[in-house]
Amino acid sequence: MNKPKNHILVIFGASGDLTYRKLVPAVFDLHHQKLLPKHFAILGLGRTQLENKEFRTKMEKGIKEFALHKTDNTEILNDFLDKLFYYSFDTKSAAEYKGFKEHLLQLDQSCGTEQNFIYYLATPPSMYEIIPAHLSAQDLGNENHGFKRLIVEKPFGYDLKTAKKLNKSLLHNFEEEQIYRIDHYLGKETVQNLLVTRFANGIFEPLWNRNYIHHVEITSSESIGVGNRGGYYEGSGAMRDMVQNHLLLLAGLVAMEPPALIDSTSIRNEIAKVFHSLRPIKEEDVAKQVVRGQYIASKIKGKDVKGYRDETGVDPNSRTETFVAMKLFIDNWRWADVPFYIRTGKMLPTRVTEIVIHFKATPHHLFAKDENIVKQHNQLVIRIQPDEGLLLKFGMKVPGAGFKAQNVNMDFHYSELAETYVPSAYERLLLDCMLGDSTLYHRGDAVEAAWKFVDPIFNAWEHDSSIKVHGYPAGSWGPDVSDDLITEKDITWRYPCKNLSDDGNYCEL
Ligand code: BG6
Repeated sequence: MNKPKNHILVIFGASGDLTYRKLVPAVFDLHHQKLLPKHFAILGLGRTQLENKEFRTKMEKGIKEFALHKTDNTEILNDFLDKLFYYSFDTKSAAEYKGFKEHLLQLDQSCGTEQNFIYYLATPPSMYEIIPAHLSAQDLGNENHGFKRLIVEKPFGYDLKTAKKLNKSLLHNFEEEQIYRIDHYLGKETVQNLLVTRFANGIFEPLWNRNYIHHVEITSSESIGVGNRGGYYEGSGAMRDMVQNHLLLLAGLVAMEPPALIDSTSIRNEIAKVFHSLRPIKEEDVAKQVVRGQYIASKIKGKDVKGYRDETGVDPNSRTETFVAMKLFIDNWRWADVPFYIRTGKMLPTRVTEIVIHFKATPHHLFAKDENIVKQHNQLVIRIQPDEGLLLKFGMKVPGAGFKAQNVNMDFHYSELAETYVPSAYERLLLDCMLGDSTLYHRGDAVEAAWKFVDPIFNAWEHDSSIKVHGYPAGSWGPDVSDDLITEKDITWRYPCKNLSDDGNYCEL
């Protein structure tokens, strides 16, 4: 495998949770597998005053708790910790960037990292326009000597207008090729496997269109509430937090045309094409096509749980949605009139992300004496998490007299691949950025297209007070009215269980 060039990973917001829980543990995992270049350093930045030693001690704790690789080999661990440095300064203040630049270039000299820098913005979004501008003013975005890459975390804007403003500002200071907009869903092994399932198997692709697929269902449910993120979530809600990015991305990967190549331009072109083909939802149709909900206090397994409005940092009269279900269409030759049902929520019965492809029923029901089989069309369940895998449901003869058919499961679980190491999403994505591969990162135009699609929904919610925010008891599958989105007779959402192949009678939640 190619190794990245020598470089420094510069993390803005290094005293925060993301650095501690995700970024540094993920880079440690790369180090453990000897995937980092010979000359490498992490430079953590933040307002909090920390010595290198204190930063290393804190990161060591994070690594021990969150890295996937064992940390009992002290030589490997210490070798990694020696590569961590910290510099404290006010990243808002233009005047302080001169000192930072000097420090960075000194570190570069002493580490032999050839002025290759990755800047990771693990900061509040309010800094996304400020930091790149200050870096650029110090000529720290210039690639004359060494590469300069910028990783930005979601949210990429708050709506279409602010997303455009952010893109414009980023592009004023860096080139599109230097910007890596991270969506951790694209780093998930099982999300990438969607491409392999579709394009490495001859059997699915011929059926993957409006002639054979009845509808597509995408669910991403979480069993936890907003926890200590109430302040952030209050200004975001499920539509901004999950739908505009993660869920539309999954829809994009299901719906995209086969790319010419597995490379950044081809794949991202195809995803962008899907987003551009999303049928706009008119403001007057929002109430019919989109359901929003908010969890209310209830009892789960005998324990009292809070409602969203009682969470810390949340307005007691909040109308922020913690659940969204919607029906959308992709207006192109492949998908015309095939409904896509997507759903996400907090405090639902279990944590599951899955895509269900519902194939059309056979045109003539030979064995449908019993009307159940009519409902039991073929389904392909692509399980992103947990119990990652694939499940195909198809009709089999029930042994015995006559011709009775019954749906059975054919399933594959990733857990069956013994000894296979599945990297974390951040590990995969950071390595890709180090290698200069942006295939699994969002491109600015696609982000804007996704905002363009959801913007009318926000407008309708804001201006039409008759559109309800439905309360749903924590621990339930969301508001009942989300069932009404599916108007076809005999069809409902799949109510998934923790285990991929459980449904119906036995279900572990
Ligand atoms: C994040 C959201 O992007 O994704 C969180 O901000 C959400 O609210 C999380 O919990 C879900 O990610 P995952 O990987 O647990 O499905």
